[in-house]
Amino acid sequence: MVKYLVANWKMNPDSLSKAKDLLHSYKNFGSRGKTKLVVCPPAVFLPDLAKQFGTQFVWGAQNCFWQSSGPFTGELSPAMLKFCGVKYVIVGHSERREHLAESDEMINKKIKAIHRENLTPILCVGGGKEAKKRNADIKKIIQEQLIKGLENFSSHGSAKLSIIIAYEPAWAISSGDPYKTKFVETPSHAGEMATFIRKILKGLLGGKPAISVPIIYGGSTDAANMGSFLKEKSLNGFLVGGASLDKKEFSKMQKLMN
Ligand code: PGA
Repeated sequence: MVKYLVANWKMNPDSLSKAKDLLHSYKNFGSRGKTKLVVCPPAVFLPDLAKQFGTQFVWGAQNCFWQSSGPFTGELSPAMLKFCGVKYVIVGHSERREHLAESDEMINKKIKAIHRENLTPILCVGGGKEAKKRNADIKKIIQEQLIKGLENFSSHGSAKLSIIIAYEPAWAISSGDPYKTKFVETPSHAGEMATFIRKILKGLLGGKPAISVPIIYGGSTDAANMGSFLKEKSLNGFLVGGASLDKKEFSKMQKLMN
C-alpha cells in the first residue's frame, strides 16, 4: 500500500508569502513514489498555492461543511474546496472536536458530503475532551467515533473505499510551539491501535474494503521519532502538524519516507 504523508498546517503560516516559501522547501514526490504527500494549508491560501504549484502537490483541506450551499455563514462546501484543487479533506480533527464541539454526527454528515464530491475524507479518531482524561478508555472512544462517524457509509459494493483513518491520540498532539507533546505515544502502541482500528473497520465496512483503507498516525512526529513509527507495519503513514511547518525538520521526514 502506498504511504501517506499529510502536512496539516493548521492555522499557519500567517501570510501567503510564508506559505509559498514553505512549499518551496517541500520535495515533490511525484505520482509514482512510495509516498503520497498531501498538503493541507489554510483554505484561503489554496487558490494561489494551487495556481503556482499546481500538480506538484496533492491538496487537502482541513475542514468542510456538509451542505453544498445556503445560509451557513463562514462555511465552505466540499464542492468549493474541489474547485480550489482539493482532493482530500480532514474531518474530526481532535482540535475541532475539542474547541468547536464537533460531534460524531456532524463528522458523519461531512464524510458523506465529501464522498458525494468524489473527494477522500481523512477521518481523525482518538481525539476530543473525553480522550484526554487520565483514565480514558481510548479503544472504546475510538470504536464509538468510528461507528458513529461511518454510519451508513459504505463502499456500495466496490472492493475499495476512498477514506483514510488517522489515529490521533489526543494526549500525543502538540499544543503549539515547539511541537512537543504532553504525553508520549509509543510506536508499538500506535501500531496496536492501528490493528484495532482495522478490526473495527472490517466489522463496519466489510473485510475487503477495510483492507484497502490506509491508517495513518496523527500524533506528534518529527525526524527523530518517525523512523521507529515507520517500522510499525500496521501504520500506512503520518498526519504531521507542527513539524510540517519547519523546513529542515520536514525535509528530513520526507527523506525518511521515500
Ligand atoms: P502535531 O499535530 O504534529 O503538531 O502534534 C498533529 C496533528 O494534529 O495533525
